[in-house]
Amino acid sequence: MEINLISGALGAEISGIDLKDTSEKNWKIINDLLLEHKVLFFRNQNITAEQQINFAKNFGPLEKHVYVKGREEFPEIIRIIKKPDEKHQWGENWHTDVSYNPKPTKVIILRSIKIPPVGGDTMFSNMELAYETLDSELKEKIKDKKAIHSSLGAAAFVEAYKGMEGNGNIDEYSNSHPIVRTHPETGKKILYVNSMYTKRIEGLDENESDEILKKLYTHQERLDLTCRFKWTENAVAIWDNRSTQHQGLSDFFPGRGLGHERVMDRVAIEGDQPI
Ligand code: SIN
Repeated sequence: MEINLISGALGAEISGIDLKDTSEKNWKIINDLLLEHKVLFFRNQNITAEQQINFAKNFGPLEKHVYVKGREEFPEIIRIIKKPDEKHQWGENWHTDVSYNPKPTKVIILRSIKIPPVGGDTMFSNMELAYETLDSELKEKIKDKKAIHSSLGAAAFVEAYKGMEGNGNIDEYSNSHPIVRTHPETGKKILYVNSMYTKRIEGLDENESDEILKKLYTHQERLDLTCRFKWTENAVAIWDNRSTQHQGLSDFFPGRGLGHERVMDRVAIEGDQPI
């Protein structure tokens, strides 16, 4: 096995591991690496949709997306499609997946099916490091506070993208979570807000809440807390959705990346209630 870090903050590209091997031993190696590096990348993984699902089940029960319909033959997989003539793609801008759910996703396994020649890299930010490096004044202000996360409704996930199909749910809802959560496996503290879904800090007036959230976003999006993965086809990214946030870059500019399709298959594993 070879492990190559892809930035100083988080992320490692792993070779010499077969994701088709669903043994407890193989999963334990991968989970230990995941807890250490927070996002793992594997290239040239010639796995089928079924094998992706079987591998994912090692981490726990699979989760259906709130708004997006799963693939016909594999309902556990949602296919993320950016059509050739679209500039925007699903998952652009920083976020933690489904942080508006009472129990947001634990781990995501994303497999690349079709990748444009340029554009559409995915970036990740280390939210444990974001908490660690936060100044003590801000740490004091968010201590024991909760923030409200909103699901934004189906429009944001389906109607805005030509290739995405909804599952019929259109309801919008919110849940609140601690701003600093504790990782259930490592016990480490994690900054747990994101600019896509977090709306308001409970118990503060709107101005104060906005001011603190803005400072937190600016801090946690610092480039030195991030890594960036350039996709190739048949690559797999596995990330810990509890201790990271991410974004798919929508840098499809004319003459460089427009006019190409980007297709990814995503499987999500159920998480627990942030505490
Ligand atoms: C996501 O936000 O879950 C997808 C990110 C990507 O397609 O790069």
